Amino acid sequence: MPAAGGFDKGNGKGYPGKLTPFVTVTCIVAAMGGLIFGYDIGISGGVTSMPSFLKRFFPSVYRKQQANSSTNQYCQYNSETLTLFTSSLYLAALLSSLVASSVTRKFGRKKSMLFGGVLFFAGALINGFAQGVWMLIVGRLLLGFGIGFANQSVPLYLSEMAPYKYRGALNIGFQLSITIGILIANVLNYFFAKIKGGWGWRLSLGGAMVPALIITIGSLVLPDTPNSMIERGQRDEAREKLRKIRGVNDVDEEFNDLVAASEASKQVEHPWGNLLKRKYRPHLTMAILIPFFQQLTGINVIMFYAPVLFNTIGFGNDASLMSAVITGLVNACATLVSIYGVDKWGRRSLFLEGGTQMLICQAIVAACIGAKFGVDGNPGELPKWYAVVVVLFICLYVAAFAWSWGPLGWLVPSEIFPLEIRSAAQSVNVSVNMAFTFVVAQIFLNMLCHLKFGLFIFFAFFVLVMSIFIFFFLPETNGIPIEEMGQVWKNHWFWSRYVGEDDFVSNAPSQLVVVVLLRLYFVSAGGKSTAAAVLRIAAAASAAGGATIAAQVQ
Ligand code: BGC
Repeated sequence: MPAAGGFDKGNGKGYPGKLTPFVTVTCIVAAMGGLIFGYDIGISGGVTSMPSFLKRFFPSVYRKQQANSSTNQYCQYNSETLTLFTSSLYLAALLSSLVASSVTRKFGRKKSMLFGGVLFFAGALINGFAQGVWMLIVGRLLLGFGIGFANQSVPLYLSEMAPYKYRGALNIGFQLSITIGILIANVLNYFFAKIKGGWGWRLSLGGAMVPALIITIGSLVLPDTPNSMIERGQRDEAREKLRKIRGVNDVDEEFNDLVAASEASKQVEHPWGNLLKRKYRPHLTMAILIPFFQQLTGINVIMFYAPVLFNTIGFGNDASLMSAVITGLVNACATLVSIYGVDKWGRRSLFLEGGTQMLICQAIVAACIGAKFGVDGNPGELPKWYAVVVVLFICLYVAAFAWSWGPLGWLVPSEIFPLEIRSAAQSVNVSVNMAFTFVVAQIFLNMLCHLKFGLFIFFAFFVLVMSIFIFFFLPETNGIPIEEMGQVWKNHWFWSRYVGEDDFVSNAPSQLVVVVLLRLYFVSAGGKSTAAAVLRIAAAASAAGGATIAAQVQ
């Protein structure tokens, strides 16, 4: 029986190709699509802790905050409208990622990125000039629509573009720009909050126009992925593009596999309904559970509300924003660790190490906060060392997330789906992610108020569950070409029940069959080809699972 991870690397198929400057630059530009998402995550937390912003748009929260520095700290920020401001974006992103599925499939990954940039730009503009809560919410809905498009298309784009040996590292460029976006936002909040006259929040919110422009312009200059070009019938251009991307002339094997995947994908009329087929059970499970678990690590409690949280545990406004900068820095730097290690150590070891580290840190943070704040939320005098210990363990927790669930939550789904369901399944991934980001953002302040320090125990429980899940159910996907991924399920102790030998047939053996058939035919027909005979061979090729050759012969 294969190990829990199903570590078998399958038929060991590989394609020639290098990490060319062309593909590197292309992936860096595309990965910048993560900036808009990151910028927003970082900016909203800081803005909602700026007194001038609260006073103008959420006066009741402001009054509560001013009045009660000595009462229950756990509940001072608890306001439905304030959380709605933060979380409305995620509902919009959820809806638009579903629409983005068809755009990405029919018009290519670039078009979705373009829509993403333009919508996000419009949202940032409205937010920067907001005069009332309604403008803030409309702006955030537009930002959300933009993020839905970008998060649906950018990870797919990267995974398709990258040579398979470097797919992990290049794909994590997306997460890296999310973290850089968060960090830039944290730093800007820190400085803008100091602007006299209290209008710094306008710069924070309006500043989102900059990353929006980057992805908009980027999407106009980037090439489309060969997979997507083939999917839209541009085969010759796709072959040329593949040569350029891989930096070698001999791209036939990979090209044929892409054509095969595209042919198989064209047979599918209803990609959404298709997702429910038995052989896609592992994919659907991962598309739902990976983003669900990613959010249940509780990371966004720190990302959205770090300043609020640090304020709650006794830091002043300035120190709180500064602590958010520190966690932002740790988040970005630790992502580099996964870029370095993901294609060396594999996905599973990062997931499992990260999970264990997060669990330990959450338990310690819960104990620290519980010990000082108790259940009434009234800490009295807080010593300096105490704040240092809490921030330290929060940083270790963020680092663990940043090299495990953060990047892998986007990488793994984008590399496991076969082309025929890729776009739809990725939309499921994004929308589940957004749905639970919404839930966490919406109920966090309320949970902090009621669960108090137990909030950290709540998330720790889920971290334990998700680590067990990874151990038993996620096969290693490192080092396997994206259109060959089917084998990892067939070799897995559990998923092999759902994925049979005939599902996701690898093209390597069938191509051999077809070549032999073609040779035999030409020998027997004296080298003359008739349309009927060619069709017979094509049919035989199809039956052998060689849609590639079938497609070429037809
Ligand atoms: C998650 C976000 C999170 C961010 C933190 C991303 O992978 O999807 O929800 O805020 O990582 O770096």
